[in-house]
Amino acid sequence: MIVRHFRGSYAVEAKNLADALESLPEDARVISDANVWHRYGERVSKCLPSLVLEPGEATKSIVQFERCLEWLAGTCATRKTRVVALGGGVIGDLAGYVAASYMRGVPFVQIPTTLLSMVDSSVGGKVAIDLKSGKNLAGAFWAPESVSICLEVLKTLPDRQFAAGMAEIWKTGYIIDVDLLKRLRTKRLSVDSESLSETVMRCIDLKRQVVEEDEFETTGRRAILNFGHTIGHAIEQVTKYELFLHGEAISIGMVLEARLGELIGITPIGLSREIEADLASAGLPTVLPNVIQASELVRVMYRDKKADTKALAFSLLEGLGTCKLTKGVPEAEVLGVFGNG
Ligand SMILES: NC(=O)c1ccc[n+]([C@@H]2O[C@H](COP(=O)([O-])OP(=O)(O)OC[C@H]3O[C@@H](n4cnc5c(N)ncnc54)[C@H](O)[C@@H]3O)[C@@H](O)[C@H]2O)c1
Ligand SMILES: [Zn+2]
Repeated sequence: MIVRHFRGSYAVEAKNLADALESLPEDARVISDANVWHRYGERVSKCLPSLVLEPGEATKSIVQFERCLEWLAGTCATRKTRVVALGGGVIGDLAGYVAASYMRGVPFVQIPTTLLSMVDSSVGGKVAIDLKSGKNLAGAFWAPESVSICLEVLKTLPDRQFAAGMAEIWKTGYIIDVDLLKRLRTKRLSVDSESLSETVMRCIDLKRQVVEEDEFETTGRRAILNFGHTIGHAIEQVTKYELFLHGEAISIGMVLEARLGELIGITPIGLSREIEADLASAGLPTVLPNVIQASELVRVMYRDKKADTKALAFSLLEGLGTCKLTKGVPEAEVLGVFGNG
C-alpha cells in the first residue's frame, strides 16, 4: 500500500520481522524500548548502532529527545542516516520527532510493534513528544520512508495492550466502515485470528484515505479519527495517564460521545448502547469511574486542539459508518452526558 503526502509517498507493507530488519541499510540507527529489545533486539544486525530506552509514555520527553539527538551525533549519523523506530507508538512518536529534527530532518523508518501503533500511529506522519504542560505539545509532520507491519510480534504483546489497540479498530468501524464493524461483531478478533492481517491492513488503508484527504487537519475530515478522543484524552489527562491505556480511555470516550451525539440530535438513539455492548465484549472499559468529576473533564476539554476558548468540539457519529466534526457544542449538554455534574 502506498501512502501519499505533501513531500512524496511511502509504502506500508506486511512482512516478517527478519525481512524488515534485514532490509535496513548499514548506516541505520535503531531506537527501541527495553520490552521490545529484550524480545527482538538480537534479530537486529550487530553492526547497527541501537539505543534502548525505558518503556512507557514518560520516554516521550524532551530529556529523551535530547538524548537521542546527542546519540545520533555521537555515532556520526549523517543527513542520509535512517532513524528506525522499533517499538510501539511511544518509540515511533519520539524517534519520528528525532528524525524530523536531526540535521533538519533525516529519513525515518517505522517498524511498529503494538496493535495500536500498527493501525494508528505509524501511518499519517504525525510525530511528537510530550511537554510538562501536556501531551504531544511539541511535534511535527514527518512522514516515514517506509512502514513494515510484522504481525508476528503481536504474539508477545500483553492482552491488555492488544485490547487497547482493538479500541482504535472498533473506532474505524464506527466512523467509516460498517462492513468491518459487522465482521468485528461476528467474531472476536485475536492475535491468532486468520483475519487479523486483513483487518489491520484495512484499518491502515482507511486511515490512509482520510489522511490523504486532509493531511494537515484543515478541512475537518481528519478530525473524524478523533471520535471518542475529546473525552478520551480528557480522561487520560485527569487520571494522569496512570489509570487507563489510551485505547481504554477512548473506549469510554466513544460510549460517552455517542451518548452526547444522541442528546444533541446528531447520533441515532440507541447507538451508544450498541457501542457499549461491543466494547465491553472486547474486554474494554465503557464506564467512567465515579471518582472522575465531569466538571474537571470539561475544563480539560477546552484545551483540546479542536476546541476554541468558548466552545467545545467533538467528532460525532451521524450513524454507523459516518462521522463529522461538530463545533460549538454547549457545555451544559456535555455535562448532561456524565450525569454527575
Ligand atoms: N502519531 C500518531 O498519530 C499517534 C496516534 C495514536 C497514538 N499515538 C501515541 O502512541 C503512544 C501509545 O502507543 P502504544 O499504545 O503503542 O504504547 P507503547 O509504545 O507504550 O507500547 C505499549 C507497551 O507495550 C510494550 N510492547 C511494545 N511492543 C511489544 C511487543 N511486540 N511485545 C511485548 N511488548 C511490547 C511496550 O514496551 C510498552 O510497555 C502514545 O504516546 C500516543 O500519543 C500517536
Ligand atoms: Zn487514538
